[in-house]
Amino acid sequence: MNKAEFTTVMGFALLLLFHTTQTEVCPPACLCKSLGKMKGLEIDCSSRKLKEVPALPVNTKKLYLQNNSLTTVPPGTLDGLLSLEDVKMFDNPWNCDCHILYLKLWLEDISESSLANVRCATPAPVKMKPMRELTGNELGICKRLLPIKSLEFFWRDLILIAVAITTLILVAWALKFSKKLVYQINITLL
Ligand SMILES: *[C@@H]1O[C@H](CO)[C@@H](O)[C@H](O)[C@H]1NC(C)=O
Repeated sequence: MNKAEFTTVMGFALLLLFHTTQTEVCPPACLCKSLGKMKGLEIDCSSRKLKEVPALPVNTKKLYLQNNSLTTVPPGTLDGLLSLEDVKMFDNPWNCDCHILYLKLWLEDISESSLANVRCATPAPVKMKPMRELTGNELGICKRLLPIKSLEFFWRDLILIAVAITTLILVAWALKFSKKLVYQINITLL
């Protein structure tokens, strides 16, 4: 590779790197407005019937997701948005099981006002309850699901162990039987 080629390849690689770390792509369903150079973006995804939070540019400063069909936000989804200052998430059918804890803590971190009017839709016991007022007890539903899951693992393990032991016994029995057979064959041959 000569010097010119090397420079071209390096330039291209840097461009690619710059492009992937500094996405400024507006989510297709949303309206994006620049708040000025180096000031970030205002992203308006409100009233779009969205079921999931779209991929967002890192320099998102204002994020409007109100009046959609969002039920949850997978943990980590919003962690990259470091310059965020204003978020609207109300008027969504939030499912307030323990998985909503990520969103609740994240909104509390952004600002008190971002949690205003954010209400749960499901499960039934917390319907219409403001997310801000959810208690650990109400979020604890997943804790009760966990033992069921480990019980499942317990039964699966028990079955695996039983199958392994049965196989061992069968193999041992077969070995013993085959030895006897060989012995008998030897005797009849003699
Ligand atoms: C909410 O979104 C729907 C479309 O999904 C729209 O028709 C309605 O006007 C919106 N309501 C508000 C209060 O923005």
